[in-house]
Amino acid sequence: MTLRIDVVTIFPDYLAPLDLSLIGKARRDGLLDVHVHDLRDWTHDRHRTVDDTPYGGGAGMVMRPEPWGEALDEICASEPGRTPHLIVPGPGGDRFTQAVAERLATEEDWLVFLCGRYEGIDERVYEEYAARYPLSVLSLGDYVLNGGEVAVLAMTEAVARLVPGVIGNRESLVEESHTGGLLEYPVYTKPPVWREHAVPEILLSGDHGRIARWRHEQRLERTARRRPDLMRDYQQQQDGQGWDA
Ligand code: ADE
Repeated sequence: MTLRIDVVTIFPDYLAPLDLSLIGKARRDGLLDVHVHDLRDWTHDRHRTVDDTPYGGGAGMVMRPEPWGEALDEICASEPGRTPHLIVPGPGGDRFTQAVAERLATEEDWLVFLCGRYEGIDERVYEEYAARYPLSVLSLGDYVLNGGEVAVLAMTEAVARLVPGVIGNRESLVEESHTGGLLEYPVYTKPPVWREHAVPEILLSGDHGRIARWRHEQRLERTARRRPDLMRDYQQQQDGQGWDA
């Protein structure tokens, strides 16, 4: 199955990295079908205007609804019989997590990203399209970016690498950070000693049982130290499993 991704932006060049690396290869392999659109292509004035001053006053500019309406009507109707999931990246949205990435990668086959700039997109665009399609506002974290483009790069990478076939070695997805609610264990390669820092003995022992236990302990220790919030969720989940069993 191919995941179709459309991105509507006033800075198409920002999305150039989608040609590179794993995502670029997945596109060439036909696993991803990516379309980047310039919102200004749906304007009709000489200056290709997409923004205006906010009603009610206040700082900054707001994106006008008409170019968004024309762009989304055209893009969303381009595959008759298919329904896109619209995603607007923004600091006021639900948190984008690994679980969200997994859901998008496995349950959706068409994502349309709306990149807002300035103070945001006129609220009526959300009203109009949330009534017609599934629409999610998603935030990368509690900080403010200048626009949605960098967030789209992060989200598409997190989603695309979970699409079957994009990453050759599926095993590398199993033990990484945020799978199973824990952070990743530390990894080492050659040489065995570097600037007086030695690789932990146990990893050279060849005892796979002990190595697996050590790695699990490292994940627990790291998660408790760096992300007590995740650790609490993990413990709750473990306790819950205990009750059910
Ligand atoms: N756009 C601006 N800030 C953002 C954030 N924190 N996450 C996603 N999109 C954004």
